[in-house]
Amino acid sequence: MLPVYGQLPFVPVRGEGCDIITSDGRRILDLYGGHAVAALGYGHPALTAAIAGQADELVFQSNAVALDVRARAAEALVDVAPDGLDRVFLVNSGAEANENALRMAFRATGRKKVLAIEHGFHGRTAAAGAVTWGSAKWYGFPSTPFDVDFIPRDDVGAAGRMIDDSIAAVIFEPVQGVAGAVDLSPAFVAALRERTSRHGALLIADEVQSGMGRSGHYFAVDRLGVVPDLLTVAKALGGGFPCAAVLCPGAMAKDYGVGALGTTFGGGPLAAAAITAVIDTIRREDLLDNVLAREAQVRARCCTGPVTGVTGFGLLLGLVCDRPAAQVRDELLARDILVGTSSDPRVARILAPLTLEERHVAKLARALADIPPPNA
Ligand SMILES: Cc1ncc(COP(=O)(O)O)c(C=O)c1O
Repeated sequence: MLPVYGQLPFVPVRGEGCDIITSDGRRILDLYGGHAVAALGYGHPALTAAIAGQADELVFQSNAVALDVRARAAEALVDVAPDGLDRVFLVNSGAEANENALRMAFRATGRKKVLAIEHGFHGRTAAAGAVTWGSAKWYGFPSTPFDVDFIPRDDVGAAGRMIDDSIAAVIFEPVQGVAGAVDLSPAFVAALRERTSRHGALLIADEVQSGMGRSGHYFAVDRLGVVPDLLTVAKALGGGFPCAAVLCPGAMAKDYGVGALGTTFGGGPLAAAAITAVIDTIRREDLLDNVLAREAQVRARCCTGPVTGVTGFGLLLGLVCDRPAAQVRDELLARDILVGTSSDPRVARILAPLTLEERHVAKLARALADIPPPNA
């Protein structure tokens, strides 16, 4: 393998609930969730049964044929999507979903320029990388495939000046995940919605990380009271089975005849079975309420030890630290708790399973309080 990832100092061999069990027998509370993916934790019987049952029936067929299991997944997703987003294109990853959403926006508007938000992250492919803040230094292509400019975060005035009749789309994360779980101000998001509507530009909500219940709502835009024109979702969508989706209004569907978009694996039967199982389980187990309760508990109990503040929504939270977040991550790992870091060196991230329990947050609070002050 190319050594492109720094790797954490343990090897998971199994998962149970919110814990991962390592090759040397450690049990680690996973608040990182495989980077916001493990929505139902590990070994959830509903997800295991859905994937195993589907594998037994039919492992794969492409979009060249209709599949009942795919239709059920699309219906389940539309059912929980913001009002009016009632068509789905199923793909495989967050970057691929964003790539297609941007392609759709260019086609719908005939315009050539996109705006994104400073510090946003949208993926590593050409178009998704082009709208990712600072991506030139990570995944640089020789040039971006279209014109891009970045609106300063939460700058309502700049949004007003920059969004005009030349803009095809504005892409934004309601909670900027990689940046450190930074929730955009409701006034800024409302301004994005108002200006894009006024100028015929499309508003694309990238909910790859914030979507599928992680915000305590099915989608973080629900919490902000905004309906975008296009919405992308991935990570938690299949609970660990790789899949993603672009959602758009029915009115856009008329422009998409045979061959207008494509993918080999997107909407495959295993992914479709996983999507339906995740959505059914969120509903059946009241996981949205659970997420909101755990968020409240983290806010109330976890501003302790090195943590001076909490940002974000639901279980996409940033723990703002009084020292490098990587040090706090290592201290917590020594106490058998895994959190993520972020591109903000002072912010550790919680991207826990939506099934997180009260006792898990209590364990985190105790561990944080146990971390000695810097230079102690
Ligand atoms: C908000 C957001 N968009 C897009 C992506 C890219 O998703 P993927 O890695 O599945 O391509 C990520 C991944 O972290 C993300 O957080």
